[in-house]
Amino acid sequence: MASSLFTEPDVGALTLPHRVAMAPLTRNRAGEGNVPVDLNATYYRQRASAALIVSEATQVAPKGQGYPRTPGIHSDAQVEGWKKVTDAVHDAGGRIFLQLWHVGRISHSSYHDGELPVAPSAVQAEGQVITPDLEMVSFETPRPLETREVPQVVEQYRRGAENARRAGFDGVEIHGANGYLIDQFLRSGTNRRTDRYGGSLENRLRFLREVMGAVTEEWPADRVGLRLSPLSPAHGITDETPEATFSGAADTAQEFDLSYVHLVEPSEPKPPVAGDGETARVFAAVREAFDGALVANGNYDRESATEAIDSGYADLVAFGRAFLANPDLPRRLREGLPINVPDEDTFYNGDERGYTDYPTWDELQNGATAETLDALSELSPRG
Ligand SMILES: Cc1cc2nc3c(=O)[nH]c(=O)nc-3n(C[C@H](O)[C@H](O)[C@H](O)COP(=O)(O)O)c2cc1C
Repeated sequence: MASSLFTEPDVGALTLPHRVAMAPLTRNRAGEGNVPVDLNATYYRQRASAALIVSEATQVAPKGQGYPRTPGIHSDAQVEGWKKVTDAVHDAGGRIFLQLWHVGRISHSSYHDGELPVAPSAVQAEGQVITPDLEMVSFETPRPLETREVPQVVEQYRRGAENARRAGFDGVEIHGANGYLIDQFLRSGTNRRTDRYGGSLENRLRFLREVMGAVTEEWPADRVGLRLSPLSPAHGITDETPEATFSGAADTAQEFDLSYVHLVEPSEPKPPVAGDGETARVFAAVREAFDGALVANGNYDRESATEAIDSGYADLVAFGRAFLANPDLPRRLREGLPINVPDEDTFYNGDERGYTDYPTWDELQNGATAETLDALSELSPRG
């Protein structure tokens, strides 16, 4: 019997050919000025058989950058560079959303001419940051945004959304996950503000709400998604009331009638999250609050992805590392073929190696070589 992964869902404005999406993947290979180049267009073109590609996280402003060579969407040159990518994906029959990003405190003054990164509050992230010169150094304590500055950052998201439209994307995904700026406003551990953007849940949700308002001025809401990672401890981020916080974020997506919510699930318990523990409660609360499409992500394999669709839990399943290493992943899942093993050493740096040189199944049959696994479930859980 054909797998339910290969039925055609409606996701907001789009009817998709199947349910295997490509998760956003930062690859640190933009050109000078953080402008996408031909090599990036080749990489995305190779993966155009995804139901939907979500681009790598893309900073909406220079202050939104915190890693080397990540692309931006704030200059005309970047818009031109992204056109190469969207044209390539569309030529190959695919669809691509841009992930709108601001890292907030997950940055370093070396990216900003010596100025401190900005954040909701002066709370230093745990761990280390990689500088533009590729040195690992401790995070600094960020500078809290003044109340009057917050609308200026919202405006940067609006401009990013407008530029994404000019660059030919099919939609945008607001990056509210993984400990970056929106997540920093949402969670009580990083949001200690006493103005209208902090304190009560309503106030902690305000920045996300204003970003959604700005982005939906530029795009119909049925072409806008929101990514969340409830309970993810990225860079030491914490929250005292995750169930209320993340169902509140999902409520906000519901109010705006967004196309989808994209949930990054923890590696344990194995997704799709079930049972009656805290994790299951938080994810169920998010699901309850939002009745648009749900994109599930995190350590899925063919079996668990099929289960997530069959049970009605998710509408799409996004694959990260597996898509990185398998440009023809939907076909491999459909036909139950072995998959190429991702090379972690080239995830976040380098050139075409580990980027555009992963062979398709047909290329493997014609003599290309790659280390393969019999099934996605053999891929080690992400750390
Ligand atoms: C190399 C790499 C880059 C990533 N970059 C992003 C990103 O730009 N934006 C984002 O929201 N998540 C990012 N993630 C997280 C993935 O989208 C995904 O949530 C994670 O890999 C788990 O899915 P998987 O088990 O299918 O790989 C990245 C993960 C990896 C491995």
